[in-house]
Formats: sequence, structure tokens, C-alpha cells
Amino acid sequence: MDAAEKEEISVEDEAVDKNIFKDCSKIAFYRRQKQRLSKQSTYRALLDSVTAGKESTRFQIINEAAKVPLLAEVYGIEGNIFRLKINEETPLKPRYEVPDVLTSKPSPVRLISCSGDTGSLVLANGKGDLKCRITANPFKIDLVSEEEVVMSINSLGQLYFEQLQIPPKQRATEENEEDTSDDTTQENQEELGLWEEKFRNFVDVKDNGPASIGLDFSLHGFEHVYGIPQHAESHQLKNTSDGDAYRLYNLDVYGYKIHDKMGIYGSVPYLLAHKLGRTLGIFWLNASETLVEINTEPTVKYALTQMGPVAAKQKVRSQTDVHWMSESGIIDVFLLTGPTPSDIFKQYSYLTGTQAMPPLFSLGYHQCRWNYEDEHDVKAVDAGFDEHDIPYDVMWLDIEHTEGKRYFTWDKKRFPNPKRMQELLRSKKRKLVVISDPHIKIDPDYSVYAKAKEQGFFVRNHEGGDFEGVCWPGLSSYLDFTSPKVREWYSSLFAFSVYQGSTDILYIWNDMNEPSVFRGPELTMQKNAIHHGNWEHRELHNIYGFYQQMATAEGLIQRSKGKERPFVLTRSFFAGSQKYGAVWTGDNTAEWSYLKISIPMLLTLSVTGISFCGADVGGFIGNPEAELLVRWYQAGAYQPFFRGHATKNTKRREPWLFGEEHTRLIQEAIRERYTLLPYWYSLFYSAHVASQPVMRPLWVEFPDELETFGMEDEYMLGSALLIHPVTEPKATVVDVFLPGSNEVWYDSKTFAYWEGACTVKIPVALDTIPVFQRGGSVVPIKTTIGRSTGCMTDSPYGLWVALSTKGSAVGELYLDDGHSFQYLHQKQFLHRKFSFASGVLINSCADKRGHYPSKCVVEQILVLGLKKQPSSVTSHSPDGKAQPVAFTYCAKTSTLNLEKFSLNIGADWKVQIQ
Ligand code: NOJ
Repeated sequence: MDAAEKEEISVEDEAVDKNIFKDCSKIAFYRRQKQRLSKQSTYRALLDSVTAGKESTRFQIINEAAKVPLLAEVYGIEGNIFRLKINEETPLKPRYEVPDVLTSKPSPVRLISCSGDTGSLVLANGKGDLKCRITANPFKIDLVSEEEVVMSINSLGQLYFEQLQIPPKQRATEENEEDTSDDTTQENQEELGLWEEKFRNFVDVKDNGPASIGLDFSLHGFEHVYGIPQHAESHQLKNTSDGDAYRLYNLDVYGYKIHDKMGIYGSVPYLLAHKLGRTLGIFWLNASETLVEINTEPTVKYALTQMGPVAAKQKVRSQTDVHWMSESGIIDVFLLTGPTPSDIFKQYSYLTGTQAMPPLFSLGYHQCRWNYEDEHDVKAVDAGFDEHDIPYDVMWLDIEHTEGKRYFTWDKKRFPNPKRMQELLRSKKRKLVVISDPHIKIDPDYSVYAKAKEQGFFVRNHEGGDFEGVCWPGLSSYLDFTSPKVREWYSSLFAFSVYQGSTDILYIWNDMNEPSVFRGPELTMQKNAIHHGNWEHRELHNIYGFYQQMATAEGLIQRSKGKERPFVLTRSFFAGSQKYGAVWTGDNTAEWSYLKISIPMLLTLSVTGISFCGADVGGFIGNPEAELLVRWYQAGAYQPFFRGHATKNTKRREPWLFGEEHTRLIQEAIRERYTLLPYWYSLFYSAHVASQPVMRPLWVEFPDELETFGMEDEYMLGSALLIHPVTEPKATVVDVFLPGSNEVWYDSKTFAYWEGACTVKIPVALDTIPVFQRGGSVVPIKTTIGRSTGCMTDSPYGLWVALSTKGSAVGELYLDDGHSFQYLHQKQFLHRKFSFASGVLINSCADKRGHYPSKCVVEQILVLGLKKQPSSVTSHSPDGKAQPVAFTYCAKTSTLNLEKFSLNIGADWKVQIQ
């Protein structure tokens, strides 16, 4: 490679060149569907073909023009879920059905067919409260819940299914063949891109021809829809009628543009809709390029209707139409019927799994940079944190730590003794994360390459050879993670005996796994590259990164012989990636607008199952000014994955490089994160076992309050804390909406309180992080901060008790060893419940199955909203011993502080305030 080529690879443009990427008009299957749909060829269900099987009810649907039947299957699934599959009845060859995403085979619920009118069929679940009404002509399905039609499918007639065809060349040789495929002329073949599609200098040759699918869903009474990450867009999805559809196509977009619907690193084809009284979900299980159009008719609209001689005004119900289109595969869609947000989260995780329980260290602060130069640099940065008394848990090494971007190796000059470096980190109970990308340098002397080559473990190109593309190491081949054999082998590379220089404090970062191919179409892999099972890349593009993270997580589990929880960060992801670790939002920019958009981007990931998510603190590209950096640390401290990162050639920006005052502010923000670790860990446990997101948009916690449905500049952490990060420069005040007419909220620093359902102006200085505790909650904290989470195992707990209007509060704490699977296999955990009522705080067991010997004590209790000064406070330990507790009461702020006592966290005790 010459110097210029090298330069091209390592230094990318600051701003994204949008011409590299397609907009909808450049996508042939989009154009085809649009053209065809305008001609409206309708489908009809053949209800006399209905057969009711054990799991599903099947019937044929037929297009009036094509006359070739499709097979529709309707399934009832445990937990109020319906599944609709539509495929060709007899395709020329099998069409791709996404494997490995559903956690297990969903348990079927037998649907009972009730007689519909002539021309319709009604299928009901056992209880009869959920029904699926299939209308024959034109084909339509209504989802009826408690006699209300909540969703209609194909009511707009956008069902679209391109049947696999014999290639034209082959067809031409067959005599007298009637062309039933379509009515296209030769001239617009190119426009339609049936067998070949051009984009810039790239030609996509399609051996299977056109195979795209589409379907519409009308959501009745809904005007708020969310989900379908990843876009640098608002949390609430926007109408697409004036512009491009939301695109789901995993791409490496350096410095992605914000407020844009183009596809970036990951895709979760799952959309949520919410209205007063109901939340719904549509999970479109398809891993090929997908487009989603959204059209919302607003809630109050008056139309004129003729009622006899009188023209009356009638309120038209709001409606959102969602149109899904995918390049290939089959229609396989799950309809989640809620009815509450919490039910929707459970239904989705029933299908795709819950958030993996993270090791505790990974909830601490992570320090990354492209690159920490060498062992000496690592040592100096690590020491910097101690010198400035800033806690941190993980040091990260980017691509330059390797020998020429050969993953699983070390640059011998820079990192001559990786184990020694890890021992230094270990001595402070810290960890190391190193990068491992999916491209493998073509170099016969590199053992990973040689082995993979020999075994045929690479993705193949259209011609049958190994696929080759350029990435960081230069010319590379790409591991085919869709193959179970390749994954098994890749996992084995993480064994301590194989991965030289690795120890059990080393964890992994999977990057560039969209996959990124520098000179490929849209910087990714050609769609006609070939994977395991002979499937084209186009069928499964969006799930490639998912598989790499799966294999990596498995490798880390295996190297510990099944004992330790893995930590793997991935850039690319798909539905279900939450099972394997964390996700971040890629190459953002050091600008205020990117700080601001990190909130809706993370909220969207959170409601689609991916709780462990974060954005690069400081902004990856460019140099943040001190104020922006401080604000970003303050925001990041309250986001699930908390990592500072910066690209090459940016100025160094370790927390102590911006003057004493800014160092102190960053230190404070990070320390707040560590103070709240018990709360964070408990929230992750709830995400893991009960499917509830860690970071929650306000509508999730306040589903009955319309004002919350569009909010995205503030959010809830669990159900107890409301966070409103400052995302504007030179802010002196922020408007904070405090929801809930029966709620009371407390400022976590000043203890000032407000009744809910109001917007308050909160004055902010550079040291203010607007955080509010909800009345009625108990938040567990740590009272002493250590150098890292590991150093805080035995440090005492405190409880923040914020009283409701009724003077009560509840909360929980989950704890375990923080790293192993013993919580699962041996039930080695403590799950405690705190409840405060009538002046008594009780610590009791929330889950009797769990046991864990913790020496930790509670040594501080802060009660907010106590209107009257107590005369005495007494603790009652399990053995019946009563002891007075010292306290201070502040009448001005109505706060009671209990100190100088110590009660074991795992014991049943109570504290009485009189
Ligand atoms: C792209 C990633 O998004 C970024 O975080 C990383 O530093 C570079 N690749 C280099 O590995």
C-alpha cells in the first residue's frame, strides 16, 4: 500500500459525504414498490382454503394480477402476541427466514376460529378478548382488543410480494413461456433494477432477481410512534410523507448527520406505538435492507359528513400508517398488543431476550481514545485518574495496539508486556478493553488469517473466492459470523492459551461490523457476497454485527469455563443484541447538537430492548471546548454506558486537562455516577429479569399523560429519578417538566420540592446537573467512592427516601458478586426491598431464593419531604434490639438525615421515626 492509500484509510473526512450513501430514490426495490402500488393490484384471501393446525391457521392469498398464491399463517403466541407470516406457497427456492434472533420457539396459543360474516374469518385467543378478523376481499386483517379495532393490516392495500422468477436469460430459452412476472417494458428495466442495480461505480448483480416485500399497518387512534433504531433522529418518529423513509441498513457513517433518516450502524426493525390506554408493537423480523414510511394524521381533525340534510362536524380519530418494505426474505411480523408499556417490553423480550446482566465494572466510567499510544501512556493516564481522585474502571485500547491491525496480537514496540500492563490495572481493580474487528488482514503469516483461509471461514464473493475488501489493515477478508462453525472457532480465539498476552481482566470491543468495507458500495459489503448456507449478503446484511458480538460474548464466557459474565461493546446490532452486551452510537461529533441528540438516540435504543447503550462522551470527532466537555460528562454520568472517547489527531482530553475548575466539575459528575452505582446495578437487574428499560422516556413512566409523549430532553432513570441534562452552551436556566398531577418531585441537591404536572425554571450553573427524585421512591447509593467499582465492594450504603404526598416510599436493591454467573446458577444474590410508611422504614427480602453474604452496612438515610421534626429515631435490628439513632432535621428543606449507625444491608430491620 502506498502512502496516499494509507492516508485514505486512516484519515477520514470530518463531515459525512452523503453522496456515498443512497437516499430512497436510489433504491430500486423502493422505486418498484412505489410504482407498482400506484397501480393498486389487490390481494384476496381464499377463506375456503383455511386449515387450522396445532400452531397456526393457514390460508392462501392471491393477487388479482399475478394469480399465484401466497401462503399466510396466523399464530397466537403466549403473552398476547400475534404472528403473521406470508411467503410464497411454492417458491422457486427457499427464501431467507432470519434465524437465531428468537430466543426459543415462542409458545403457541391455540386460536379458536369464530364464525365471521360471510367473507371473513375471526380467530380469537382462549379468553376471547383478543381477536384477529380476516377479511377476504380485499384482503385485510383487523386486530381487535376488547371489541376495539386497534390495528389493521393491509387496509391500504400495500401488501407487496415479488415472487422469485427464473432469470430472463434462462427464461428466454424456454419456448412459449408466458411472462406473468410484471408488466414492465425493456426500457424501464434499469430503472426497476430487477436483475442488476447500479449505484455510483457499483453494479449489484442479482442472481435471484427481484424479491422484495412490503405491508402496511394502520394504528387506530395513535399519533405517537417510536423505535426502529438506529437514526440520529428524535425519539418520536416523524412523518415521512415529505421526504425519505426511515432506512434500516447498517452502515459506517463517520460524523453522521443529525436529524436524518439514513441508516447508520445498527438496526432493530421494531416499532412501538402509544396512545392513552394502550401501547402496541410491530416487530418486523427481516434482516435485509428495510424502509419504513410513517404517516400520521393528527388527533383532532374535523370533517364534514352528510347526515341527512344536516352537514355535521365529526371528530376524526387520529391514525398512524406504517409501511414496511424490505429488499428480500419473507413477511414475518409479530404484533405485540400490550396494553401497557411494561407489557410491551415483556412481550418483546419474550421474543428476543432481555438485556444481559452486565458485570458491575462495566457500569463504571470507561476511558478510551484512538489511541493510547503505548504502555507508558496507559500507565500515565491511569495514574492521572488517581492523582486527581477521579474514579474510573476501564482503560481502552483502539486498533493501534495491534501488530499492523492484526487483531489478537500486540504491537511489540508499544506494548512489549501486555500482561504487566494488565497487572497494573488489576492492582487497582480496573480492567482493560481491546478492539477486535471482523476484517482479517490478508497475510498468510498471520495465524488467524491462515487458519480462517484454510478452513473456508471467510465470506465469499460472487465469483466464489474469498471476499476481499479494504479496511484498517489494508486488503482484508471478512469472517463469516453467520456460520455456527466460524462463530465457534472465533470464540475459541479468546481462550487465554490462544490469545497471547490476554488475562481475565481483558474484555472486548467489536467495531466496524456493519461490516465496514472502505471501497465497497456505501462503504459496506457487496450485496451478492455469499455466506454460509449459500445465502446472499443482501438477505442478512443487518444481522452480521449481531453475530460477531454473539461469538465474542460466547468466547469470553468459554475462556472462564462458563463462570464469568462477558463484556462486549458492539457498534453494529440487530434485534436481540441486548443478550450479548452493550451498544454505542458510533462516530458523533464534539458539538452541542450531538450531545443533545444522544438523549433521544439512547431512549430509542432503550425502548427497543437495548438498555446498555451510550454515546461517546465529549464527541468522537473534533475538539470540545471545556464547557461542552463538562456538560457531556454530566449527561454521560446519567446514561447507561459511560465512556469518554476521541478520534485520532484530536487534542488530548483526559478529564484533568482543562484547568482546575473543569477538572473538579468532571470529577464531581463521575463521582455522582459512582454514588448511584447500587441504583444502576439494580436497574440493570430489573432490565435483565423483568425486561424494563433502564433509561425510560417519560411516556413509559407516565403513559396517561399526553404532555409526556413527545418529550426527549429529559427522561427517567428507572422509576425514581428524572434527569434533564443541560445541553445548551452558557445555560443559566433550564425548563424542566415535572410530570404527574399526584406526584411530588425533589431536587436531588437542594431538596427543593414541587408538585407534579408543571414546568419549573431551574437555575443552572456549570456545576448543576438537574436531577429530581420522585416522591414515593427509595434510591440506594454508596456513601464512599473508591478508585473503581471493585474498590467499593465493601463500602457502605445510603438510602435516599423521598416521600410521596401520602408520606410513603418504596425502592429496591439488588446485589451479587458483580462478575460471575453464581447469581443465576447458585442464587447467590441479595434482593432487598425498602418501604417507608407511617414513619417506619423497613428493609425486607424481595426475593427469598437469593442468598449472598454481604458485610456491607447502611450507614446513612436521608428522608426528603418530612414535614415535622421527629422527637426520636430508633432502629430495630432482627434480634429485637432497639437503639436510638442520631439525626439532624432541617425545617427549611424538610429533610431528615440519619447518621452514625450501621445496619447490615442483607438483614431485616426497621427504623422508626417518631
Ligand atoms: C470507528 C469507531 O467508531 C471508533 O470509535 C474507533 O475509534 C475507530 N473506528 C478506530 O478503531
